[in-house]
Amino acid sequence: MKVYVLNGPNLGRLGTREPTLYGATTYADLVALCEHTGKELGLDVTVRQTDAEHELLGWLHGAADEGAAVVLNPAAWSHYSYAVRDACAMLRGPLVEVHISNIHAREEFRHHSVVSAVATGVICGLGIGGYRLALHHLAGLAPADG
Ligand code: DQA
Repeated sequence: MKVYVLNGPNLGRLGTREPTLYGATTYADLVALCEHTGKELGLDVTVRQTDAEHELLGWLHGAADEGAAVVLNPAAWSHYSYAVRDACAMLRGPLVEVHISNIHAREEFRHHSVVSAVATGVICGLGIGGYRLALHHLAGLAPADG
């Protein structure tokens, strides 16, 4: 199964960015964790991060064309980007939305994600481990021969 793990703005700064909220794990560690987990589970995983919304939209269009599965942390775009939401609605494969922090326990503006209504499921507040759980969920959907 092809899986794109896509990360939105500021997530490239994991490790130095507000570590009390997001932990000490760096973005490079996150990439390694997802790639390692993908190998373990027999998934074909590609991990990407961008601070440019149009770039994320292009990646989502590509995933839609391929019928690929997506693990998406839309970061701040979660809360206001109808363009990201509309691109997610076009996906044909499963979409797992991941947030490292518990967005419901934070500022009011973070409580709502415009993406969640078009996601297959949402994981939030479980730290970087949320990405691992998302990949395990997708592996459970994949046929045994990958
Ligand atoms: C986040 C939560 C968002 O509110 C925030 O803007 C982020 C990261 C998370 O992973 O907890 O950038 O998506």
